[in-house]
Amino acid sequence: MKPRIPFNKPFIAGGELEHIAESVRAGRISGGGPYMKRCEEYLEEICGAPRVLLTTSCTAAMEMAALLCDLGPEDEVILPSYTFVSTANAVLLRGARPVFVDIRRDTKNLDENLVEAAITERTKAIMPVHYAGIGCEMDALVQIAAAHDLRIIEDAAQGLGACYKGQPLGGIGDFGAFSFHETKNVICGEGGALVLNRPEDVERAEILREKGTDRAKFFRGEIDKYTWVDVGSSYVSSDLLAAFLWGQFEQMDRIAAKRRSIAEAYFEQLAPLAAAGHLELPVVPNHCDSNHHIFYVLPRDMATRTALIAHLRARSILAVFHYVPLHASPMGQRLGYEEGMFPVTEDVSARLLRLPFYFELTPEDQAEVTTAITEFFGERT
Ligand SMILES: Cc1ncc(COP(=O)(O)O)c(C=O)c1O
Repeated sequence: MKPRIPFNKPFIAGGELEHIAESVRAGRISGGGPYMKRCEEYLEEICGAPRVLLTTSCTAAMEMAALLCDLGPEDEVILPSYTFVSTANAVLLRGARPVFVDIRRDTKNLDENLVEAAITERTKAIMPVHYAGIGCEMDALVQIAAAHDLRIIEDAAQGLGACYKGQPLGGIGDFGAFSFHETKNVICGEGGALVLNRPEDVERAEILREKGTDRAKFFRGEIDKYTWVDVGSSYVSSDLLAAFLWGQFEQMDRIAAKRRSIAEAYFEQLAPLAAAGHLELPVVPNHCDSNHHIFYVLPRDMATRTALIAHLRARSILAVFHYVPLHASPMGQRLGYEEGMFPVTEDVSARLLRLPFYFELTPEDQAEVTTAITEFFGERT
């Protein structure tokens, strides 16, 4: 049965259908259309990047970044095990090896203090994942990358609009990858973007996105016919989805403000339980501006989390856990990893619980969620 208070609900900002109709009327619904251009320019401004390419997904954007890094079977890439499968798949698809590193207890992000020890002569890149829209310690990572001549691919799937020391997530490393999947803050169903922070990557990235052809140059009138010049795939977004996305970009400020107020209410209403030691709340370092993508709690242990999920479900509230660590998955084990190798990741994965969080979550429904959680711990003391 559908829960009365779901975990996520895609938000429709209002202008999406009209923009899609406009795209249809303009007669250019494939890649390279007017809405794609608008969305890309908007993201370039937000990220301060020389070029952003709209893609079919964040997964596709990270695959492109892996191609742009020329990853091959001799190479290794450092990333957290506490992430979505796409971060690691981008590496594996190039025949390279994902090298997992544990996360920080506070932000649940890649522990920058463990990165240097994981570097070998094969290491070619680092993929920090900005979990929940809270920035990784990018100053340290940028410094390590510079010292060892490594590229940085930011998995900013959850990071649009968030900042680390005033710098936009996705705009700090060599590459950034955003997701507009319907579970994200700003959506178009399925979609993503590749942020190119180095001008020298732009030309090849445009080719990779267009199936290995120089079609982008042709569309701009720079050449009179296009042809096959490199490897590539179909990574380009349809203008119909870009039109939808533009309807969301128009409401970015409203979406950001609403999510902030929901996060603040959760912090306030759950503070007494945290003070009593029943659960831990998210930690947002002072130098990070979150985009409030996720709100989670960490009860004392897995058994308490399982009981809390059941308690909420009995009240028709859906709360979900996140990320089975990649190193402990069947694929991770095939790569030679074993349970027990990354204790913080395993502990967080066993306890973290994501609470309902979507634009249309009403203050009444949110209070019902926090009241149910408070009751749960009240009954247990
Ligand atoms: C950290 C992270 N990376 C990558 C992705 C993949 O995004 P997409 O579905 O746009 O490919 C997600 C999606 O949830 C994610 O959370």
